[in-house]
Amino acid sequence: MPSPAEKIDIERTKKIAEHVFDLLGGALVSAMIYLGDRMGLYQALNGAGALTSEELAQKTGLHERWIREWLYGQAAANLIDYTGEGRFELSPESALVLANENNPFFLAGGFCALPQQMAVLNQLPESFKSGIGLTYDQLGPEVNRGVERLLAPWFHTQLVPSALPKLDGVVGKLQNGAKVADVGCGSGVALIEMAKAYPRSSFHGYDIAKIALARALNNAMQAGVGNVTFHDAKVDPLPGDASYDFITTFDCLHDMTRPDLVMRAIRAAIKPDGTWLIADVHGQPTFEQNLKDNPLAPVMYGFSVLCCMSSALSEPGGLGLGTLGFPEPVARKMVAEAGFTRFTTRDFENPINAYYEVRP
Ligand SMILES: C[S@@+](CC[C@H](N)C(=O)[O-])C[C@H]1O[C@@H](n2cnc3c(N)ncnc32)[C@H](O)[C@@H]1O
Repeated sequence: MPSPAEKIDIERTKKIAEHVFDLLGGALVSAMIYLGDRMGLYQALNGAGALTSEELAQKTGLHERWIREWLYGQAAANLIDYTGEGRFELSPESALVLANENNPFFLAGGFCALPQQMAVLNQLPESFKSGIGLTYDQLGPEVNRGVERLLAPWFHTQLVPSALPKLDGVVGKLQNGAKVADVGCGSGVALIEMAKAYPRSSFHGYDIAKIALARALNNAMQAGVGNVTFHDAKVDPLPGDASYDFITTFDCLHDMTRPDLVMRAIRAAIKPDGTWLIADVHGQPTFEQNLKDNPLAPVMYGFSVLCCMSSALSEPGGLGLGTLGFPEPVARKMVAEAGFTRFTTRDFENPINAYYEVRP
């Protein structure tokens, strides 16, 4: 009989160790992206050509030695180009991802909640024991802001000009004056974009997170839109009066403890000829397929434990779908069970989300 030590494949062990170290690298580079965003370093580099650490320090009013170490790390991580002779440049492509907030490739904003998101690790051992997760309010304001900055670029640049015109008859109704609800509206960015574009329509945002609702109200005031109202869905839920022409749910059904009940409420709230647009994370139908075909699966399962599944289990009896828990077959089944009869997939060229146009 070989001893257990002889059974170990050392080459495989080395590869796993390298992989784990790479993953640690990802976490640490993420922390550096957080700093780059927070300290305005990407903004300062954007369009500035190749700068030395002294020039970047001068531009930002920060200490050169710290800037230099950060630049070395960014170049080593292939995020910023080293052009030689102590100069560093943010390429136009990196700028789209790290510096320019209003384009669909922008990702750095999502890193703004990293410290708070990671601080949740102190609370999650208790959730593993009790089974009960944390609500979005318990995750705190920075996580709310992180979700907003991660998802807002698509709303700002794609929702009104590209996505809505692909839905059957929705834009005409919005132009003439429609009643619209965004359920799980978070900080209201999607709703405000639509409200600006369609002043004859009235827009209602529903959420259960007080932090998100307060942010949404503030965002609406800043945008100067008067045709938006926000509702705390716990005390002022969707009315079951078949009055809504258009309802949206963006990246939130998988976060809800009882999406089945919310879907039924949406069915009762929508007009017989109304449209419901669902956006949810583009997952494969099974865990096995995610393992095989979904390169984003490790990130998504991480988000799930830290945030989405946690929220979906934040009350006893929560379904706990989680980030990858609402793939198309689940969506089709749950939507049909809620009483909808038409379900069409829509491709809005978003690598993260799937979109479904659903009708009674
Ligand atoms: C990932 S965020 C998405 C927010 C927003 N739709 C967006 O795209 O920015 C999920 C939101 O769903 C909300 N939510 C969770 N359960 C809910 C429920 N039962 N009713 C309404 N909103 C809910 C959370 O409070 C959170 O704001």
